[in-house]
Amino acid sequence: MKLGGSVITIKEKPYTANFDAIKRLAGEIQRANVKPLVTIHGGGSYGHIAAAKYHIKEGYRDASQIMGFSKTHQAMTTLNKLVVDALIDHDIPAFGMPPSSFTLMKRGEIWILGMEALKEAIKKGLVPVLYGDVAFDLDKGFNILSGDKIAGFLAVRLDAKRIIMAVDVDGILTDDPKLEPCAKLIPHITLSELEILQAKIGESRNSDVTGGMPGKMSELAGPVGCGVEALIVNALKPNNIYKALRGEKIIGTKITNK
Ligand code: IPE
Repeated sequence: MKLGGSVITIKEKPYTANFDAIKRLAGEIQRANVKPLVTIHGGGSYGHIAAAKYHIKEGYRDASQIMGFSKTHQAMTTLNKLVVDALIDHDIPAFGMPPSSFTLMKRGEIWILGMEALKEAIKKGLVPVLYGDVAFDLDKGFNILSGDKIAGFLAVRLDAKRIIMAVDVDGILTDDPKLEPCAKLIPHITLSELEILQAKIGESRNSDVTGGMPGKMSELAGPVGCGVEALIVNALKPNNIYKALRGEKIIGTKITNK
């Protein structure tokens, strides 16, 4: 499950967590009691600010970016602590794991992601909590490793049954809802239909350094192509994450291979 930064932070307010949402989601995850579960969260108003200011996604250009690399990572560890604390408060054995410590990228893609400790954590009954992070890139020096990319990568390698993307909209819409008010929710879409839609919508125009909804859709293509069911769901609406985890019917978008 990937908890979007737009859900767990207030996106317009720098370094501001959405504590109400984090606590409520922790309660829903506790009630759903799904095992095994790997959680990944995004950056929202924590990660994206320093990342954008220091142009981390463009790779290493000069030494002035190094402080930004440090600050971006540190902002994410702060947010990770808030999420892990909330889960532990709800009796969930959450275990924060910094992806930059066991991942290397190459040309913006995951090149190596050491799964050994993660698998041990899952076997022991822990709920690993990873997050979008900075990462070293063998080609570009460094990069941004989005939570969506981690979620897609792990869903395939861990043979996940389902990948849940918790966002601040009801699912995939026929158009960008911020630009087209008549956009309608698509309850079920196949991978090939999604590719056509993706070409139509194009890049989302917000300050998100990792590509917004189109970026999310392309990260889901890998796992869905391997037979993992993907679910995009509005986690700002109470009980949606509970239902998504339990496999109950919800308003959202299901993405399947066929
Ligand atoms: C971004 O992660 C992490 C950093 C900017 C360091 P995501 O791309 O997964 O974050 P959200 O969910 O879009 O905010």
